[in-house]
Amino acid sequence: MRIATVDQLLDALDTLFADGSDWTRREQVDPWIRIFSQEHHPLNTDLPDANLVSWFRQGLLPPGEARMALDLGCGLGRNTRWFARQGYQATGIDLSAYAIDQAKTRANEGGVTFLEGDVLRERISGGPFDVVYDSGCFHHLPPHRRISYLRTLETVLKPGGLFGICTFAWGQMGSEDDDLTLLRQGHLEGGIAYTMDDLRQVFSTLEFIEGGALQVKEEQTGEVFQMPFLHAALFRRGQAEE
Ligand SMILES: C[S@@+](CC[C@H](N)C(=O)[O-])C[C@H]1O[C@@H](n2cnc3c(N)ncnc32)[C@H](O)[C@@H]1O
Repeated sequence: MRIATVDQLLDALDTLFADGSDWTRREQVDPWIRIFSQEHHPLNTDLPDANLVSWFRQGLLPPGEARMALDLGCGLGRNTRWFARQGYQATGIDLSAYAIDQAKTRANEGGVTFLEGDVLRERISGGPFDVVYDSGCFHHLPPHRRISYLRTLETVLKPGGLFGICTFAWGQMGSEDDDLTLLRQGHLEGGIAYTMDDLRQVFSTLEFIEGGALQVKEEQTGEVFQMPFLHAALFRRGQAEE
């Protein structure tokens, strides 16, 4: 077989990461069970990301009434459920069957749906969405799969919709190797570090609204999830198609 399509190229590049360090595709063993089954793991929480709360308070995220939100790589669903509590019809999707099972058992709110699925390789039902959010999924992608991610975003985000993302911050956590090095070595060191400029470049078809460390700006701590090694950015898709 000779490569003749982008999907064939992406599938071929996936095989470079044969050492199990790519946690963004289905393997025989789900690497996320190890993380989510730890009672005291920081991600095993009900707290929403600090930036979500801050954006909402600042009016950058609209109230949820009659709007739909999608949480890509939702894990145990803490941010999905926060969207539901703000009145959104909220959908969380995740590759890990374990995470989705756990998320479903924790969902006491109305207006929340959890789906098992691969956001890079499968069509996501129920959209397009007014708000698409990703906390901690994108930074685990091998470099070439950003292409798949952007294609997904294109189909799930409404024109005029908002896209929020939280990733490892450059200099704090994640690999700082360039993309070619990562592809050549066929190994991901638990995630990739991004500068704010990297995020603006990758999502350059969207309008940048704001970005910064994962923290609330007002006097408020203890009720939100914040880590010094994470940062977040908010973008808006233009109304008119290019
Ligand atoms: C670091 S965890 C973050 C979980 C959650 N967003 C949170 O912040 O609590 C990354 C999540 O991305 C999910 N993920 C990775 N690749 C994915 C893919 N291709 N499709 C859907 N989910 C994926 C993993 O299963 C995992 O739950």
